[in-house]
Amino acid sequence: MTDEKTLVSGIDIPSPASATDDGGVLGTIGRVGASRRQFIKGVISSGAAVSSAGYVFGGMAGCATEEAPMAGGVERLISLNVNGETRRVDVLPYETLAMTLRYKLGLTGTKLGCDRAECGACTVLLDGVSTYSCSTLTHTVRGRAIRTVEGLEGPNGELHPVQQAMIDELGPQCGFCTPGQVMAAVALLEANPSPTRDEARFALSGNLCRCGAYDHYLNSVMRAAQSA
Ligand code: FES
Ligand code: FES
Repeated sequence: MTDEKTLVSGIDIPSPASATDDGGVLGTIGRVGASRRQFIKGVISSGAAVSSAGYVFGGMAGCATEEAPMAGGVERLISLNVNGETRRVDVLPYETLAMTLRYKLGLTGTKLGCDRAECGACTVLLDGVSTYSCSTLTHTVRGRAIRTVEGLEGPNGELHPVQQAMIDELGPQCGFCTPGQVMAAVALLEANPSPTRDEARFALSGNLCRCGAYDHYLNSVMRAAQSA
């Protein structure tokens, strides 16, 4: 009967009360025309929709495009020094550097993994020091030299020696962590051109690799150091 049905994920099923009387919800589904498989698919798809909505809207939280109250009167149109160029960009007071780079300046080589200072995928250089851009407010880096993986490209498009070494040592597997690993390695070698393996391991310790290619990345740093 229609008044006994409850809508769950697009599938009409009897209310829990009547279902319990007849031996449970799943046991009743077959008698109203929906299979157990359809019911389970519906529940899974509704859960997936809720999860992905949270990811999409939550993931863009640091790059809101709506005008926010000007707490403290922060100037929004600012100049950034990115890869040796001055870039004018409209930045909200609470916007992170990773969001500005990726979604305002189109520098998508900088990846966003955890967005909470845990994985290192977003690593860029600030005045030569490796830094998590997901945890750095863009307004705080005015006047600093920002380098992203795009800034490593040579005048004729050639790869940086660290990038070439990572290819030679088969460092990248899925490649998602690679830009962050590259930037951390570049920061190390510019400060210390002849690191020990332990020093290299320490320098890259803030960059997680879900594929577990840590030895390959370490080999790459040592190869790049020897070729410099
Ligand atoms: S995305 Fe910045 S540390 Fe993970
Ligand atoms: S190569 Fe896949 S996460 Fe590092």
